[in-house]
Amino acid sequence: MISLANQDNVLIPWQSERLESRERAMVRVMAKGVASTTPDGKDGEAVDTAWSEWATVEAALLDRSDWKAQFISSSKCTAVWSKDGGRKEYFRPIRLRKTFTIDSLPGRARLYITALGVYKAYLNGRRVGDEQMAPGWTSYAHRLQYQVFDVSEMLRANGVNTLAIEVAEGWYAGRLLWHEGVPCFYGEEIGALAQLEIYSLDSIDSEPSLQIFSDESWEWRESPMLASGIYDGETYDMREEEDGWADAHMPPPKSSKSASSWHKVKTLPFPQTDLLASPSPPVRVKDTISPVRIFESPSGKTLIDFGQNLVGKLVIHNLSKPSGHVLTIRHAEVLENGELGTRPLRSAKATDTITLSSKPLTEYSPHFTFHGFRYVEMSGWSRSDAECPLTTDSLSALVMHTDMPRTGHFHCSNAQLNRLHENVVWSTRSNFVSIPTDCPQRDERLGWTGDIQAFGPTAAFLFDVAGMLGNWMRDVVLDQADEGGVVPFIVPNVLKGGRDKFFWPRVPQAVWDDVVVLLPWTLYVAYGDTAILHQAYDGMKDYLTILPRADDGLLWDPDLWQLSDWLDPSAPPDNPGLSRTDGTLVADAYLTHVTRIMSRIAGILGHQDDEAHFQAQAEKLVDAFRRQYMTAAGLVVSDSQTALALTLLFNLHPSDPSGRATASARLGRLVRRANFKVSTGFAGTSAILPSLTCPSSSPSQAQQEAQNLQLAYRMLLETGCPSWIYPITQGATTIWERWDSMLPDGRVNPGEMTSFNHYALGSVATWMHAVIGGVSPGDLDEKARGDGGGGWKRFRVQPRPGGDVTSAKVDFLSRYGQVSCCWELVAAGSRFKMELIVPPNSTAVVILPDAEKTSDDRGKVVGSGRYHFECAFKQPGPWPPQPLNSGYDDFDFGKIGKTR
Ligand code: BGC
Repeated sequence: MISLANQDNVLIPWQSERLESRERAMVRVMAKGVASTTPDGKDGEAVDTAWSEWATVEAALLDRSDWKAQFISSSKCTAVWSKDGGRKEYFRPIRLRKTFTIDSLPGRARLYITALGVYKAYLNGRRVGDEQMAPGWTSYAHRLQYQVFDVSEMLRANGVNTLAIEVAEGWYAGRLLWHEGVPCFYGEEIGALAQLEIYSLDSIDSEPSLQIFSDESWEWRESPMLASGIYDGETYDMREEEDGWADAHMPPPKSSKSASSWHKVKTLPFPQTDLLASPSPPVRVKDTISPVRIFESPSGKTLIDFGQNLVGKLVIHNLSKPSGHVLTIRHAEVLENGELGTRPLRSAKATDTITLSSKPLTEYSPHFTFHGFRYVEMSGWSRSDAECPLTTDSLSALVMHTDMPRTGHFHCSNAQLNRLHENVVWSTRSNFVSIPTDCPQRDERLGWTGDIQAFGPTAAFLFDVAGMLGNWMRDVVLDQADEGGVVPFIVPNVLKGGRDKFFWPRVPQAVWDDVVVLLPWTLYVAYGDTAILHQAYDGMKDYLTILPRADDGLLWDPDLWQLSDWLDPSAPPDNPGLSRTDGTLVADAYLTHVTRIMSRIAGILGHQDDEAHFQAQAEKLVDAFRRQYMTAAGLVVSDSQTALALTLLFNLHPSDPSGRATASARLGRLVRRANFKVSTGFAGTSAILPSLTCPSSSPSQAQQEAQNLQLAYRMLLETGCPSWIYPITQGATTIWERWDSMLPDGRVNPGEMTSFNHYALGSVATWMHAVIGGVSPGDLDEKARGDGGGGWKRFRVQPRPGGDVTSAKVDFLSRYGQVSCCWELVAAGSRFKMELIVPPNSTAVVILPDAEKTSDDRGKVVGSGRYHFECAFKQPGPWPPQPLNSGYDDFDFGKIGKTR
């Protein structure tokens, strides 16, 4: 028994000896403590918990030498070549299998398995596990994940068993990137690696008594899937199906065509890459959605509407047609002119094709692809078919994503805001498919770094993304090291040009590359785990060392073009980078912020020299930024929402509050002049509302602060284009890439980049959680109270009602337990009531919207428990605020002729 005498109750390092490969241990815990009624727990009674249930941990294969298996592939390459014979276009999937016998009942059995491609495994005809697109996408040259399955119950004792695997090209060998893309980015052959280890009943914890591993004794054949690609979809010829191929108990007749289709496999050289048991949850089917409507398009096509834009695939429940009958299923996110709107998919075909046999097709869904869609166009099956007509019960959509536990919920009295929040959740689900992607439907679906940099804090509230993003961050630093310290735009980095192409120059970029500092920081703030900071630390320093600086050696080199405020709504459809805010200014604002965060990270990790160095550099950067971009009064040379938002949020003004007050008033003015429309792109969108509501630190600014709070609500509730609610007025069920992906006249935006499922602009949900709902991680005022530490050890509760919102509820499952805050306005809006739950071993700083409070209220610290709060309330300012383009309404005519 190990006793730990400290207050930590999460992220306790493993206290016992290091486990060896395959070793198992059982753990249970008991906590001793006091029931605390105050933050220091002094007046509480002593309480011990009961022992928890036993939890079992088991080490995977930790050493390369544990692998006896070899990678195996088809003896004949199944690639289909381009017409001119110049390149492999795609691979026909392959099936691999091995039959073996076991003599006695196994005690335990484990299957360790991965693929060059994506795979599904079967034992005795039954699917092993329920993972989709395994082994998932990593930077394969560095790391290839394998999965571990407990198959103890799937083996046949005293008899013949079959281990079978189907492999398709996946990300490993499939086409990646836009236009014609790059096929075979990681390798020219698909294959699998499998090691089945069986322990007899009397030696469960010693050596395995039998190991079955992939080697030259296996056999292979072509799959009845003629093609299966991520962008283009899957083609299945049921007539080539071989029933029982994965189960030796149902062997095909020796004389049949199937029997002769099996050949000896070939072995492949063991790749250099690290093999690791996947640290991230797998992709799974997480939901099933029924169609809401089946209808005919103007041109007579059969269309199916699922009512929700989603990521996944169809499942056909039951269909019988004559042998040779072909079903063609095309997917798209929108309709245009009443027909399937496939133009935004660019070169991705997103089409599944099934050729039926004389047998019924039952519960069939494609194996190795996924699509981003709300609508499906079905050819070969319609509502008017005499036999087996297509109905809403004939098929469903399976929703696929990384199986991350949901942690954050939000609900308020405004239905449009609730739908907006739902859309953010759907876009998170849709773009967390093994890696964090930009979009899930067109010929990209890539790990664009800027998108997750902007959206990370929102994702880390809505879902437990520690495993998935922590895993992806490892690839960020590995791929970065390959590029001499330059963080790739996309991770896994497939912009290197694959075999012979060059897709993007190797060039550092603010906002995108900032991910190497800001995402680990986000994860630390959300989960409190310093391991992620350690692991990325060298990459962070490399980035800040190699980025090209101006002559002053501080700011970014102004000659370098920056993506910066990408997709500013004023940028023309064909030039999304042409933002109204100067790109270098945006880059420099981020650089000062990132350098400050870097100093804090260095401090947390105990690197004092680095902490001081980056602190000093950040101060110099702030000075340089002011010299370069700020007027003496506090205005900024790019007079835009993004420029002002970033300088306010990143605290770039001098400490004298007047400059900040000028900028804050100016930002309010720009918001009113824009008729409350959004004028920000990727860089400014996560900052605009928080900058309107960040505390001014000066009591004299209380009125301005209150007005800006109302402006923030007004902006969020704006329905015209561009705004967050505009897409909802157009029926959006996910967050769009562009503010106007669908134009007000119903046409799809003509720009090349027009996805209807991009999460970046959904970063506004973080403001909704923090300001409307009232909860946010860490004590933001860390100078006054000491850094709250990561992981919601100390969090802030400060609901700030405004606009027409009269109640809100936020729940968040932190590492310490459930945080819950629920408030409402009562007595005709004159009183504020709040119920709060603070989980064990954490504290909250509570600041109420008390009409009678003094403006320097620093809040009350409360420990774990349930609380009820109540106070007087009055609206922070007139509602609704007025725009600044309606004549002279705002002007005080009394001022005319008076000298001040
Ligand atoms: C992606 C974006 C990405 C951008 C950068 C686009 O194609 O979809 O989300 O960040 O390119 O250039």
